[in-house]
Amino acid sequence: MLAIIGGSGLSTLADLEVTHRQIVRTPYGEPSAPLTFGNIRGVPVVFLARHGYGHTIAPHAVNYRANLWALRELNATEVISVASVGGIRAAFTPGEIVVPDQLIDYTWGRKNTYFENGAPVTHIDFTEPYSSALRSRILAAASACGERVFGGGVYAVTQGPRLDSAAEINRMERDGADLVGMTGMPEAALAREIDLHFAAIAAVVNCAAGRGESRQGVNMEKVEEVLHDTMGRVRRIIEALVAT
Ligand code: HPA
Repeated sequence: MLAIIGGSGLSTLADLEVTHRQIVRTPYGEPSAPLTFGNIRGVPVVFLARHGYGHTIAPHAVNYRANLWALRELNATEVISVASVGGIRAAFTPGEIVVPDQLIDYTWGRKNTYFENGAPVTHIDFTEPYSSALRSRILAAASACGERVFGGGVYAVTQGPRLDSAAEINRMERDGADLVGMTGMPEAALAREIDLHFAAIAAVVNCAAGRGESRQGVNMEKVEEVLHDTMGRVRRIIEALVAT
């Protein structure tokens, strides 16, 4: 079954005919919210609001381990993680949608593995952090419904919850990053640890700090507008993916 983890601006899926919600407890605590089960065009999917339904859980405080564990426990095999991000690469302007193919992890202090407390030390291969099969399906779905998406990019994952300084963005760019957000890790690595096929859809909602229209600062009011519109298009892509 396909799972969708919704980020800012995607706390529900309009096309989802909800069948039930389920509170799940895991050895790692409770997920961000009850899981919402339902069907899109008759295909079962499960949805989880990463920041809770009231958007009260900040990126550094999300229980990523519980979220992915709960999804797998309830029979998810594939996870599409939706996130809003800032654009570093000049072409990644607000309103663009990117399916990243790589990431750089700048987060710290997050619970980032299941292999601890007596579990055998395990080093997962993370050369390709995202499932290429699932990425291809997202790209095919986007082209089937006529939505323009960028088929690759390096996602820099920051700790948050604050936005970035212009110098931090310059450093990320020198490191090779194209977009910046706060929730990509440890989500991707935890998914790999428990054999979930995982890919991300990143909605660019602002130019990164010091770039383009954010040269003097990031305007959060404008972000809200772009977020609404862009997440509507992300929903269409997900619907098209489920339909194929
Ligand atoms: N930086 C970090 N995280 C973000 C941004 C940003 O500019 N926009 C949305 N999430």
